[in-house]
Amino acid sequence: MHVKLNEEQRLLKDTVRQFAEEVVRPNAKEIDETGIFPRAYYDQAGELGLAGVCVPEEYGGAAMDTISYCVVIEEISRVCATSGVILSVNNSLVCDPLDKYGSEEQKREFLTPLASGQKLGCFALTEPGAGSDAGGLLTTAVRDGDDYVLNGNKVFITNGTDADIAIVFAKTDPEAGNKGITAFIVQSDIPGFSRGEHEYKLGVNASGTTELAFTDMRVPASQRLGDEGQGFRVAMTTLDGGRVGIAAQAVGIAQGAFDEALAYSKEREQFGRPISSFQAIQFYLADMATEIDAARFLTWKAAWTKDNKKRYTLEAAQAKLFTSEMAQRVTSKALQIHGGYGYTREYNVERYFRDARITEIYEGTSEIQKLVIASQVLRDA
Ligand code: CAA
Repeated sequence: MHVKLNEEQRLLKDTVRQFAEEVVRPNAKEIDETGIFPRAYYDQAGELGLAGVCVPEEYGGAAMDTISYCVVIEEISRVCATSGVILSVNNSLVCDPLDKYGSEEQKREFLTPLASGQKLGCFALTEPGAGSDAGGLLTTAVRDGDDYVLNGNKVFITNGTDADIAIVFAKTDPEAGNKGITAFIVQSDIPGFSRGEHEYKLGVNASGTTELAFTDMRVPASQRLGDEGQGFRVAMTTLDGGRVGIAAQAVGIAQGAFDEALAYSKEREQFGRPISSFQAIQFYLADMATEIDAARFLTWKAAWTKDNKKRYTLEAAQAKLFTSEMAQRVTSKALQIHGGYGYTREYNVERYFRDARITEIYEGTSEIQKLVIASQVLRDA
């Protein structure tokens, strides 16, 4: 594994940083406050090839590797974590399973517009009673002729307010536990599909989080993703990839907070000199810079393992666990360096501090990551 970006990845990083600085940063504060989903940003990101970074070109994607994908999510999240997760969900949780499990027809009809950014996707797994226990979902899908009829509710669905297409998980055999779950590709404009209001949250406030409800919603059997009963596996393997994306998001949030704190420490004077000249602040900066690098390399290791077609459940969970907890520590120190100003809305650092918190929760809490890591470590022992 190379620990340096290659020429193509460096060029991508520069391009995405410029896009992030010019297009994403100017709106980051406002969308955090209003919670309005930034669809225009998503459309522009799609034009740049960022909606389907790893998807083959024949299906509308940019055909890059997973380290490149991490670079994209980190650079966007460095200025706006909301914008980072919107892309991460479309890439990892929607395009990736369509590419992996979709039929040729499904790829042409659904993956291509999603990967090119013409459409936006969401991933509908979580339910009011099924969060960490994803297999406990209650939404049902009953076969009726050439269709399935879906009934149920989903909660906390990122991109849900604006998504055109949802990957929905439902029980086709409620008696069969995890093995009775099936995945479906669902358009949001079909009868029986409805969504709730935008959910106001502590952070990543404009990521379109909402509830979805399905009432006698007919989905053609041709839109079943994978086999009947394969849905839990589809969800888990998809989340392996999603966790790499969230790890990259956490690295980006931490890097953004670090950059703000570093600049502030050089400008802010106390006792007649910049606070960066005090050893207490220098030690904070040293710890932050070291932790961010360690987290980034762990993330790239998971990405590299994925690209090398090895099972990367362990690496993804380790990256997600470490980066999200690192992001708490780094954003907290960045706020501390800002002192009282850091606690106000005038400075960006409080937004980074709030945004970082969700990375320990979504796509599997830290506690779930530890369960996954332990089971992999014990299995390999
Ligand atoms: N890859 C392949 N197969 C896997 C797998 C993986 N990563 N994880 C589990 N499986 C397989 C197991 O091998 C097992 O197969 P067999 O029955 O054939 O042996 C089967 O799936 C069941 O596995 P478990 O017994 O481990 O299942 P479990 O019910 O105990 O649950 C869990 C395991 C890890 C706790 C899982 O439920 C989980 O990951 N929970 C967290 C859910 C989550 O991350 N939700 C995120 C929602 S999406 C989101 O957050 C998006 C957003 O907002 C941005």
